[in-house]
Amino acid sequence: MAMAGSAVGLGNIWRFPYMVGEHGGAAFIIIYIACCLLVSLPIFFAESIIGKATRKDTFGALESLAPKSRKVGYVAILASFIILSFYSVVGGWSFDYLIRSCAGGFSGLGLDEAKTVFASMGGSPVESVSCMLVFLGLTAMIVGAGVDKGIGRFSKISIPVLFLMVVLIAIVSLRLPGAEKGVEYLVKPDFSKIDGPAVAAALGQSFFSLSLGVGTILTYSSYMQEDENILSAGGWTAFFDTVFALIAGFAIMPAVFAAGIEPAAGPSLVFETLPVIFSRMGVVLPVVFFLAILIAALSSSISMLEVVVAWLVDQKGMRRSHAVLAVFGAAALLGSACAVAPRVFSTCDFISSNVLMMIGALAFALIVGWKMPRERVLHYVRYRFVYMLIRYVAPVMIVAIAVTNLL
Ligand code: TRP
Repeated sequence: MAMAGSAVGLGNIWRFPYMVGEHGGAAFIIIYIACCLLVSLPIFFAESIIGKATRKDTFGALESLAPKSRKVGYVAILASFIILSFYSVVGGWSFDYLIRSCAGGFSGLGLDEAKTVFASMGGSPVESVSCMLVFLGLTAMIVGAGVDKGIGRFSKISIPVLFLMVVLIAIVSLRLPGAEKGVEYLVKPDFSKIDGPAVAAALGQSFFSLSLGVGTILTYSSYMQEDENILSAGGWTAFFDTVFALIAGFAIMPAVFAAGIEPAAGPSLVFETLPVIFSRMGVVLPVVFFLAILIAALSSSISMLEVVVAWLVDQKGMRRSHAVLAVFGAAALLGSACAVAPRVFSTCDFISSNVLMMIGALAFALIVGWKMPRERVLHYVRYRFVYMLIRYVAPVMIVAIAVTNLL
């Protein structure tokens, strides 16, 4: 449940639909699922094995299994920090939309008015920066107070609620006039749109959505019970996370086409589209939706902040409250830059998913596939073919995709 809580977040509802829209629809979805099965799931198992076998944090685990690779820990921490910064901008947008929906701002809007809602928010630096600060501040308060006190209980309710809301949104969206074009876009693959960057984006998205490559899954696995099964934990998390993303795709894309929004609009896509759908859903349901997405986003953002704070406390001897404040300050600066400059935002997004998480994931696969004794790994994964996926397929695919993407 905790792993599913970390995995399900803005990655499913905001990032997946806009990635699909930027990279050609159905064909991208097929590549995405293939990446999940052949690369991300094996990496998930590798991270889990490292955590469960060492029972340590990312830094300590790498130090004890592969002392020479412990510097990868820095990459993971840097990645967590960068992701936290731009994730907070999107968390801030969710907060902004929650306030707007509380004021009844979406109900009964016309198509054209709905399309301009995002512009009026994005065009105001004061509004987007202050909403980002609210989201980051909430994240810092929860991490400062201790992660598992309240948020764990909240996410047990908010994730099922979010799931129902996304299904409901999909139903409304599919009934909009002109929605068929969006459905066609999601089910009829056009492989001519698939190039190197699209494959790299699919792999990066699946890492992002499953919280891989920065030590989140490693850390959570270090708390697993001895008799808990790595294969079923990873398999269920990936299955649930993917179903969530696919339904979100069917909630957003039909409305995108119905409203005549550009599918390749990028990070603003979902926020431009939701008002179109919510204009038909009354006053209460949008509030429920934005509350649920805010809690889902917080349950992900705290896991990013926690990685950096744990490092400052354990390795640098800082007091927890000081560490939280320091990271909050630094992330507020980078987050403000992301909030006002779309170029900074997309660079942070690109570097973390396409470079830093790849490095982390590659290191985890190589350590489990080549450094740990074969019997020890087989004890966890049971099947030889899973071991082969970790040892050969995942690392080769990561390197191949990274190289073709950079050329
Ligand atoms: N997976 C989360 C989402 O889909 C985001 C997330 C949480 C994350 N922890 C992470 C992404 C670590 C990358 C790395 O919203």
